[in-house]
Amino acid sequence: MAQQRVVVLTGAGISAESGLRTFRDGDGLWEEHRIEDVATPQAWIADPVLVWRFYQARRRQLLEVKPNAAHQALATFATKTDHFTLITQNVDDLHERAGNESTIHMHGRLKTLRCEQSGRSEVRMEEADFCDEFLYCQCCAVPQRLRHDIVWFGEMPMQMEAIHSAVEKSDLFIVVGSSGHVYPAAGLVNVANAAGATTILVNLEAPMNAENFDEVHLGKAGELLPNILEALS
Ligand code: APR
Repeated sequence: MAQQRVVVLTGAGISAESGLRTFRDGDGLWEEHRIEDVATPQAWIADPVLVWRFYQARRRQLLEVKPNAAHQALATFATKTDHFTLITQNVDDLHERAGNESTIHMHGRLKTLRCEQSGRSEVRMEEADFCDEFLYCQCCAVPQRLRHDIVWFGEMPMQMEAIHSAVEKSDLFIVVGSSGHVYPAAGLVNVANAAGATTILVNLEAPMNAENFDEVHLGKAGELLPNILEALS
């Protein structure tokens, strides 16, 4: 394993056993709002208080959850692999808390807030930062309103150049806990296949893009991933 270039992409399923709801397993609703109706630039313009409350509730939840065995197994595996890149669609900080400090968050992060004026992000996880009132930046002479540092539907995912560069060079591409609904993340397995990588999926049930993988392991990530990564180490 030491010489192989390994890229792992995770989705909401890897955080499910930590108690964080996935997007498409439940009813996909939050307080009777469809997430697709809340997580958009249009919703932020139309009803910023609603969008702010939605993400503040999810940020407060970060304080109540902890990494599970799947997060831990990935962190251990990374220490044994010279070329390891972890990409996540998740906005929680469970990979970092398990030990994967340099995780690429392609859909943003709940820990940071972004200045609407400068575009700069700042970590805001103090007690006072979980309020339902808007927060203001520390980077502008006249403090500007902050938005959540999340990639909303219709916005460009982050760090796509670095992501493509890593996947195009990968020998092994592993996807954990993703339904394969949302692009460009769901299409990365095709990039890995084109690069000649071995592609492995670990998911509770067969997702839409299951047939694109060389190996499919169906079940809970917390139960399957430790053994799969141990066998690959
Ligand atoms: N172990 C492994 N897989 C699991 C587990 C588990 N314990 N629990 C659920 N799953 C699987 C489900 O079967 C499902 O296929 O995880 C997948 C979660 O899929 P989604 O809820 O669609 O989450 P994800 O694929 O990460 O969504 C991608 O969509 O809403 C946007 O930006 C949001 O990042 C998100 C993106």
